[in-house]
Amino acid sequence: MPDPKTRRAEAPLPPGSVVGMLGDGQLGRMAALAAARLGYRCHVFGPAADGPAHQVTNLSTLADYRDEAALADFAGSVDAVTFEFENVPTATAAFLEERVPVRPGPKVLNICQNRLREKDFLASISVATTRYAEVRDPEGVRRALRDLGVPAVLKTTEFGYDGKGQARLQTEADAEAAWAEIATHAAEPVGILEAFVDFHLELSVVVARGLDGQIETYVPVENHHRHHVLDQTIAPARISQNAADRAEGYARRIAEALDLVGVIAVEMFLTTDEQLVVNELAPRPHNSGHWTIDACATSQFEQQIRAVCGLPLGSSERHSDAVMKNLLGEDAARWHEILAEPAARLHLYGKADARPGRKMGHVTKLLARR
Ligand SMILES: Nc1ncnc2c1ncn2[C@@H]1O[C@H](COP(=O)(O)OP(=O)(O)O)[C@@H](O)[C@H]1O
Ligand SMILES: [Mg+2]
Repeated sequence: MPDPKTRRAEAPLPPGSVVGMLGDGQLGRMAALAAARLGYRCHVFGPAADGPAHQVTNLSTLADYRDEAALADFAGSVDAVTFEFENVPTATAAFLEERVPVRPGPKVLNICQNRLREKDFLASISVATTRYAEVRDPEGVRRALRDLGVPAVLKTTEFGYDGKGQARLQTEADAEAAWAEIATHAAEPVGILEAFVDFHLELSVVVARGLDGQIETYVPVENHHRHHVLDQTIAPARISQNAADRAEGYARRIAEALDLVGVIAVEMFLTTDEQLVVNELAPRPHNSGHWTIDACATSQFEQQIRAVCGLPLGSSERHSDAVMKNLLGEDAARWHEILAEPAARLHLYGKADARPGRKMGHVTKLLARR
């Protein structure tokens, strides 16, 4: 069996090759569609019977991420593996990497799966983050609060998403309750306490890096949340050129330092005095990059497929500005109305059950480029 490391120098995977996709949600679905356009096939591996990604390919394995027999068969049927969900167990990625190239690799997953490791990594490459401390009990939270000050945010180190596993603290007296709140979400008794950032805007930069080290960044975008879930992305962000350049610079530095092959989203805060601090990383296409499908020469999903297959990256240049709005729960019932708007591009993910808050689709409105 060839060593996956030496395969890095090998020729690009030719059209007709099979990309293994860990995860069966909408991100995998949109990547599989991008793969199909380039003549590749996607083999989707995930646990959800009617997962959005399973629906768009006939190569699909319905199994748990820890099922080694299923993983071995999967590895034997694909030419490279990527993922749309970063919380696949590290052991799963390591098991696959012994058999087939995994891009990005387990090292990137390992860093991005844990908020403490992620912030330590960012500090090690001189990327600014908010001040933070590891905490292991309510007394530890109180001690860290004395150093970091209030307000602060206590988070689980792993498996947090859409604001889950987080608690805000206004005074030291909140330590006990905040700890109890995150403990219900945490697998282990460890958390991260972060100084609260009084931000002006939340931004993100999606960056792709190819097997040969080529980097393409998308313009920084502005993200607006509702009930802790992304509501709207405005592309490009309405910020100074200087702030935009710094944001892109951070994204490039992170992609390089991770030796990334794939796509990563860098979430940042911009403070009122134009300080930029990185909040978190997602080593895959990101909800705030969905606008790139309709407004850019190459979408974030196509970049992911190109990187994984060892192709040159495409141009991330935008031909239009855009506003992307998520369709949550019953919002998707407006599909008929949205279709009637000439500049609106509708994307639905094929989910049957429109539970409140569930991401059912998104709509991108194209605007003249500023
Ligand atoms: N240190 C912080 N200061 C201020 N707001 C924060 C801080 N950390 C998180 N938030 C707010 O909570 C949201 C969710 O936190 P985040 O760390 O991005 O976790 P996730 O997106 O994984 O749930 C952020 O988008 C931001 O609005
Ligand atoms: Mg986030």
